[in-house]
Amino acid sequence: MNKIAIIGAGAIGTAIARLLSKAGIAASIANSRGPESLAALSQELGVTPVSVAEAAKADIVFLAVNWARLPEAVRGLGPWNGRIVIDANNAVEVPSFRAVDLDGRASSSVVADLLPGASVVKAFNHLGAALLGSDPQSDGGRRVLFYSGDDQDAKARVAELIGQLGFAGIDLGTLDGGGRLAQFPGGPLPVLNLVRMG
Ligand SMILES: NC(=O)c1ccc[n+]([C@@H]2O[C@H](COP(=O)([O-])OP(=O)(O)OC[C@H]3O[C@@H](n4cnc5c(N)ncnc54)[C@H](OP(=O)(O)O)[C@@H]3O)[C@@H](O)[C@H]2O)c1
Repeated sequence: MNKIAIIGAGAIGTAIARLLSKAGIAASIANSRGPESLAALSQELGVTPVSVAEAAKADIVFLAVNWARLPEAVRGLGPWNGRIVIDANNAVEVPSFRAVDLDGRASSSVVADLLPGASVVKAFNHLGAALLGSDPQSDGGRRVLFYSGDDQDAKARVAELIGQLGFAGIDLGTLDGGGRLAQFPGGPLPVLNLVRMG
């Protein structure tokens, strides 16, 4: 079975941990302050607290860290050897929510540059944390999550995981093209709470 880990245990990392826990999928989780600070979350959700270096060894690594702290969070991690990193991040400053100037680049392309050799798939970024972490069965259908990436095998594995968590996945295409559609701010899709019927 694929090992799954989450780097970042704030609003989005916790929402992802909650989804995995509800689906009965084992996962480990890391933050900047170390495993001891994650004892309560571990007790609540059954996720395993680990160091960032340990989390980065998983087959599928969710990355959910404040944009400004991403470079420091992933520095020295790897080699990635084609392992999957799910980019759940948005290029915003906090707490102002001002867009970060990316010089016209897609935010996930910037993230991918920080992770040489990783198969980056953008997903789990387009909804607010509270909605993301809530029941994906909604209004008689399944809540939609988008995913984008350049590695078809990686996208297939992420699509499978999205389905296992109870969502309806929609493939938006490449990291640059699809990624921009789901990019916050700027893309047309973020914050849309779509439900797939049937
Ligand atoms: N909040 C939302 O509704 C939402 C929605 C969609 C996407 N996003 C995106 O998701 C990402 C995370 O947002 P968030 O709201 O979850 O932020 P958050 O609540 O502030 O949590 C950020 C997490 O990142 C960790 N972190 C920071 N620097 C780190 C480092 N050097 N090494 C390891 N972990 C580090 C923090 O650990 P410590 O607590 O130990 O410092 C914390 O667990 C951002 O890119 C954001 O734009 C957020």
